[in-house]
Amino acid sequence: MVTSCLVVLVFAAMPLTAAEPIPVSPRERISIDDDWRFTKGDPTNHESFQGLVYDVRRGQTLRRFAAEADGNAAINESVGANESTNPAAVIKQWILPTGNDFIKDPARRFIRPEGNPGDGVVYVQPDFDDSSWQKINLPHDWAIAGPFTSSGGGGMGRLPTAGVGWYRKSLTISPEDSGKSIFLDVDGAMSYATVWLNGQLVGGWPFGYASWRVNLTPFVKFDGQNELVIRLDNPPNSSRWYPGAGIYRNVWLVKTSPVHVGHWGTYLTTPEVSPAAATVNLKVTVDNDSKQNSIVSVATEVFSLDANGEKIGPAVAGVASVSLPIPSQDHAVAEGAATVVHPKLWGPPPTQKPNRYVAITTVRQEGKVVDVYETPFGIRTVKFDPNHGVFVNGEHILLNGVCDHHDLGALGAAFNTRAAQRQLEVLQEMGCNALRTSHNPPAPELLELADQMGFLVMDESFDVWFRRKTPLDFHLIFADWHEQDLRAHVRRDRNHPSVIMWSIGNEVGEQFTFASGAAVAKELVNIVREEDPTRPTTTAMNWAQPTNPFTATVDLIGLNYQGAGIRGVPGKYPAFHEQFPDKMLFGSETASALSSRGEYTFPVTTNNSAAVGPNSGEDQARHQVSAYELYAAAFGTSADKVFAAQENNPYVGGEFVWTGWDYLGEPTPFDSSRSSYSGIIDLAGFKKDRFYLYQAHWRPDFPMAHILPHWTWPERLGQVTPVHVFTSGDEAELFLNGKSLGRKKKGAYEYRLRWDDVVYQPGTLKVVAYKNGQRWATDEVKTAGEPAELKIADGKDLSFVTVTVTDKKGVKAPRTGNRIHFDITGPGEIVATDNGDPTSFEPFQSHDRNAFNGLCLAIVRGKPGEQGKIKLTAKADGLAAGTVSIRTTLHVD
Ligand code: GAL
Repeated sequence: MVTSCLVVLVFAAMPLTAAEPIPVSPRERISIDDDWRFTKGDPTNHESFQGLVYDVRRGQTLRRFAAEADGNAAINESVGANESTNPAAVIKQWILPTGNDFIKDPARRFIRPEGNPGDGVVYVQPDFDDSSWQKINLPHDWAIAGPFTSSGGGGMGRLPTAGVGWYRKSLTISPEDSGKSIFLDVDGAMSYATVWLNGQLVGGWPFGYASWRVNLTPFVKFDGQNELVIRLDNPPNSSRWYPGAGIYRNVWLVKTSPVHVGHWGTYLTTPEVSPAAATVNLKVTVDNDSKQNSIVSVATEVFSLDANGEKIGPAVAGVASVSLPIPSQDHAVAEGAATVVHPKLWGPPPTQKPNRYVAITTVRQEGKVVDVYETPFGIRTVKFDPNHGVFVNGEHILLNGVCDHHDLGALGAAFNTRAAQRQLEVLQEMGCNALRTSHNPPAPELLELADQMGFLVMDESFDVWFRRKTPLDFHLIFADWHEQDLRAHVRRDRNHPSVIMWSIGNEVGEQFTFASGAAVAKELVNIVREEDPTRPTTTAMNWAQPTNPFTATVDLIGLNYQGAGIRGVPGKYPAFHEQFPDKMLFGSETASALSSRGEYTFPVTTNNSAAVGPNSGEDQARHQVSAYELYAAAFGTSADKVFAAQENNPYVGGEFVWTGWDYLGEPTPFDSSRSSYSGIIDLAGFKKDRFYLYQAHWRPDFPMAHILPHWTWPERLGQVTPVHVFTSGDEAELFLNGKSLGRKKKGAYEYRLRWDDVVYQPGTLKVVAYKNGQRWATDEVKTAGEPAELKIADGKDLSFVTVTVTDKKGVKAPRTGNRIHFDITGPGEIVATDNGDPTSFEPFQSHDRNAFNGLCLAIVRGKPGEQGKIKLTAKADGLAAGTVSIRTTLHVD
């Protein structure tokens, strides 16, 4: 709803009088993920179809960069024009009004033209028979079904993301809903979404990572079936990584009274926090969609939440009800404060706990409850000190963070909370305490998980502004949509305690345009400050230097790779620190170290970091990268070198490693592959050796030691085969078949212990690590015999099942690629399989898959509405089969 007038009422904190039960909310937020019909492509055999395009695209040139962090175009190709489009088919003017609530200047808001684009399109017609379309449930990513293609570049993951997809669903809306406001909330659709209801174009949103709402009310039939139709149009060459395709996040039908709390209509801040008390400021925007002016009362109570997000105990604070007049078709804002005594603070583990609260706002009209709205939040202070880094609730916290893209490996971009939680659990086990949502707004549930688990989040909006990186990326719509996308992003996410900073962009081309780039940055910074003045802005800079006016526009200086040094250039933290003594610096993107799990090449570099290349970590025949964890992209560095840069410059706030998990697309250095090599964890979720390098450094109090490589090298008898150890101890002794190979101590700025002259002989390698002279941890690797068995384990996870190929004695066969076949019985299904091999083009849905260096993964889901015992069996020729039972129980909300 667009506002012309704004009423702000300020009401003071008052103690609660009597504890009344929270009324039942008339608001309904219904998941409508199930039972959709889907087809790919526009109808071709219908005379009236003239095509629908969001906008005309002029011819674009494809520039591929020699190295991504470089900015020098190496290849030019022409792609993507649709200039011959019939202008009548351009629908942008009907879509733009959807974003009006996020445009500050009323003069810039859009007016919907006459007409109903799409009304001649057969798929839009309410009576169209879609029974031959595919039945699907959301979240849905049409591209993950493949097939992989070996033609073209690997940047977007070699899966068929490009093209048009149509979704249809019948919604039953009953006469009892008549008079209500009805909204469709889409958490994310890739991309250029257009929505029709009952044949009428409702609106849409182009940016595929945005969450958005359309108001269905004017088009609803309150007496039965309503046909909802969504068309997506995902351009080719539109991303530097795998974007996914389809309605890949959750979708909701929201029914409210005409007078209700607006979309993302609460804004909660905690300006004063002490052990004795915290002040909670709350702004509540109430919309009045009705034809009458109205007066409502707005009251809020605050409750503690338990670790699962359940409300506990009586209200701990509250704001007494005040009266708020709201003109018809307008909105008004109620502003108030409450005090929480002895607040339980939100903070990152292991030293702090992510305690949370919820503010429950009740809106009454003429004494009747018209809305009850919940705002979960946390109370914490975050300080960014230019000389000492980040302080959360007064405690110094080094950002031990990772960057991650949004895909979930074999599940594609289709969001799944359990899969995202698994990613965060493995990261937390490593000692990671911070996430960067590279390079776009994440799924809302990811931030809920971050709140719940205590991660600190750098919440990022864009990868490009006006200056493109790929021909058909966001730059095409930046001019029209950046304000709406940025305001929507901040408004959606600003109540999350996990979000500690806003990143307005990653390595944007505007770094190269000095004053004019700085002007764009300033505009974006101002938008963020208007929406949330409590958190700092930043941008991830790989090129801008201290004196570039672009650099000065943000509150925190985020450096990509420059801190530890790009390509032999010495690290630049000191230069930036000197230029910006009042701003905190941090490594917004670090390392870009590359490896394939379980792959090792020889000889091993004697340096602590080397650019990957022929004879430098690359296995050019197999398109794999050595997991000695010393090799990095040309502009990057090993983890070790980044740790040293941090320790040398203790004023730096910490780092975000590129990347936590492997992701689909951008398979540097082997463009012919499907997925990245930069993850600390592979695409299937198996830990690379690098996991233990970070764990050793990030969890110094956790006793651990890890040996690499594996010890099954029949072809290396008598050859030098370096052995490296990652340990949280400070010293270690290595033994080969019981014989000591020496005790070594870590020197200054050393993060691994190396025995670089070990001569291979089969048997057992054992390490005993020490800390402060005391025995601390051990690890052992054994030479494996012939692969004999499949070991199958569902670990703690019900859904992610690991198969390990072992010899007869149970030793993992670290180099084997046996073909594994999965069978399933009982109330479950195999959703996907993977092995973490970046070069594998096997469809993710296949029940047959080769192990990769001894490991294979199956992702199993219980069938909806069924319970019982699922039996998953893994078989391979010549090996003893493995079986696991998984019990699935019905979940009742
Ligand atoms: C960075 C960029 C990331 C990714 C990475 C590849 O420069 O910000 O998005 O492309 O390089 O290693």
